[in-house]
Amino acid sequence: MKKLFFYLPLLVLAAFGVLHITQVLIGRQHLFWDGGDYDEYLPDWGKPGQPGEGLSQYPTDATRDVIPIPCHSHNDYWRHVPLLDAIHWGCTGVEADVWLFDEELYVGHNTAALTKNRTFRNLYVNPLVDLLDHMNPETEFTNSTHKHGVFDADPDRSILLLIDFKTSGRDTFPFVYKQLSALREKNYLTYWDGEKVNSRAVTVVGTGNTPFDMIVANETHRDIFFDAPLDRLYEPAPSDTTAPAKRQTASKQPSAQGSIGTESFTKDDFNPSTSYYASVSFTHTIGFVWRGHLSPKQMDTIRGQIRGAHARGLKVRYWDTPSWPIGLRNHVWHVLMKEGADILNVDDLRGAAVENWKARVHGFW
Ligand SMILES: *[C@@H]1O[C@H](CO)[C@@H](O)[C@H](O)[C@H]1NC(C)=O
Ligand SMILES: *[C@@H]1O[C@H](CO)[C@@H](O)[C@H](O)[C@H]1NC(C)=O
Ligand SMILES: *[C@@H]1O[C@H](CO)[C@@H](O)[C@H](O)[C@H]1NC(C)=O
Repeated sequence: MKKLFFYLPLLVLAAFGVLHITQVLIGRQHLFWDGGDYDEYLPDWGKPGQPGEGLSQYPTDATRDVIPIPCHSHNDYWRHVPLLDAIHWGCTGVEADVWLFDEELYVGHNTAALTKNRTFRNLYVNPLVDLLDHMNPETEFTNSTHKHGVFDADPDRSILLLIDFKTSGRDTFPFVYKQLSALREKNYLTYWDGEKVNSRAVTVVGTGNTPFDMIVANETHRDIFFDAPLDRLYEPAPSDTTAPAKRQTASKQPSAQGSIGTESFTKDDFNPSTSYYASVSFTHTIGFVWRGHLSPKQMDTIRGQIRGAHARGLKVRYWDTPSWPIGLRNHVWHVLMKEGADILNVDDLRGAAVENWKARVHGFW
């Protein structure tokens, strides 16, 4: 009966083509339906703090056939070891929601999902260090300045660790910085050295409450990068400048100057020395996708944002893209990838993997 009440209004909405309103709700449901299926195919990673069999088989088994795909996995609340699941499916990025309580960093979508063992260190830092140590055994043949990443099929590929600061940025930053030292000390972190970016096995990006000024405080060494506001980076197509009147009516873009929280910034603050991604909520900036198709105005916004971010050397990430119905989700993913977006934010890892983003995963599809 409860189910009926849940679905009936959805059907009515669907009939009117207002599918987007339900996307979030249904997207969440979808995760749980799929949860069981995933487990069949996943190695036993063990529990947080207690590595299972699966981890000891890295790298030879678990990543051998994995072709990296540009996606961010973000559903840490039901995965045992979300990082390893993501890598298993070839996702090149993982996202962790991090909360500071009592001088410890916990991971979860909301405070209700936090438990003692689900710490940032247990779920992300330590598994990454273990995995990378595995991939880079210390022998006389190894090269300590050129270390392997987590993907056997593409050892030079850096995995993206996106840290969403949920608690005060100013308080949380020092703890994140300190906990990353386990990776930093082993030269596993991508860093800015004052002149150039040196790519390493793990690239860390801070989003949410991440304080921009603390990221840029050190001029000669930065290994946490900022997630720039993509909607502020819009640039019109070169040909558009000949028809400014038309452009103004086509779409109204936020001004280049603005602020994040109490900080103010200009577009020029965002470049590879400070930032890695430029991101925005798809729903917020592009809006509803009526009848499964993006309008010319929506396409203009997407193209302008991607143009602006790429002109500054940043990678484009849209989050909060439609997750349902699957056809619409895939359509939007295809359009974004075709237009040059650099990463997909996914909750449905297997969905992303088997959607065949030029990827062949594990041979059972
Ligand atoms: C937390 O981890 C410790 C040791 O790693 C383990 O003994 C304990 O059972 C775990 N607790 C939970 C609730 O998983
Ligand atoms: C180690 O790797 C770096 C970068 O690829 C290279 O320049 C250097 O020659 C390598 N050293 C050895 C001993 O192979
Ligand atoms: C910047 O970071 C480097 C490396 O951690 C450190 O040695 C240096 O003292 C820092 N500089 C400042 C001004 O904090």
